[in-house]
Amino acid sequence: MSLSAQAIEDAKNEALSAIAGALDLDSLKEVKSAHAGDKSPISKANQQLGSLTPEERANFGKVIGQAKNQVAVALEERLKVLEAERDARVLIEERVDVSIPARRTIQGGLHPLTILTNEICDLFLGMGYRVAEGPELEAEWLNFDALNIPADHPARTMQDTFFVEPADSHLVLRTHTSPVQVRTMLEEKPPIYVICPGRTYRADELDATHTPVFSQVEGLVIDKGITMADLKGTLDHFARSIFGPDVKTRLRSSFFPFTEPSAEVDFFFNGRWIEWGGCGMVNPKVLIACGIDPEVYSGFAFGMGLERTLMVRHGITDMHDIVEGDARFSQNFGMGVK
Ligand code: DAH
Repeated sequence: MSLSAQAIEDAKNEALSAIAGALDLDSLKEVKSAHAGDKSPISKANQQLGSLTPEERANFGKVIGQAKNQVAVALEERLKVLEAERDARVLIEERVDVSIPARRTIQGGLHPLTILTNEICDLFLGMGYRVAEGPELEAEWLNFDALNIPADHPARTMQDTFFVEPADSHLVLRTHTSPVQVRTMLEEKPPIYVICPGRTYRADELDATHTPVFSQVEGLVIDKGITMADLKGTLDHFARSIFGPDVKTRLRSSFFPFTEPSAEVDFFFNGRWIEWGGCGMVNPKVLIACGIDPEVYSGFAFGMGLERTLMVRHGITDMHDIVEGDARFSQNFGMGVK
């Protein structure tokens, strides 16, 4: 640019109109660098001052200085206006509506089966029992042999039992909680009063009434002078506390290798008899296998399925609801929604 007052005036006016035309902070930044930066026409004019006579330099220096000043003031003012506009816009755009209802999240809670298990354990703890547990991966001997279940018993075949490889490990996924009876008798001396809840496994398909992974609760009492009347009284109390004070129980004679005599226990609920589980007096052969003298001690045992107990008590008709883990199912049992 050749140095002339008119050229400087033009450059200044161009700068001022560009500043006025900048509609947001980004474009103002570009305008600033184009019209007030080192390479802007006014700065370039300023750099030319050195080559002028002292008189001209004073003259142009003043004109350029005023132009620079005006541009700087205009930039500053436009910046303030655009910043204020941005702040006002952000306040609206990023506004938080505190009146919108909060999103409800499920707080989480215990599965209904766990609640039932805890309820049963509490009941028996209150009667002086202890809660005993055993491993789900169990020695075949404890799951079958020690319970007087012979090698050719159908429960032992591949149809029912998950055998675990290698075969010579002699491990199975326990098919019932009864091996916990054996473990307890091997570890402790009578009197024994235990309740044993736990997960059990059988090669069943999952359908409305079956699941290959299910839960049982086992009770075992070994003491002096224990009779079947004690068993019946205990089951009555158990049934009443789970199903209500009016519930009746009955024993039907049956067979289990580990009890003699054996019975099925049923309860009368909502107008019909419902099969609940097995029970009986602990077979002397089992007592002997566990090092307990059957001449001195006797005992009873019982075992029932927890899924079935839950289904009957709450009118659940499909096993899938229990095993699938849909939180909406558990919510019906009081899982907290907060
Ligand atoms: N263990 C048996 C089963 O799973 C249930 C059972 C029957 C348990 C009789 C007992 C009992 O303790 O005395 O089919």
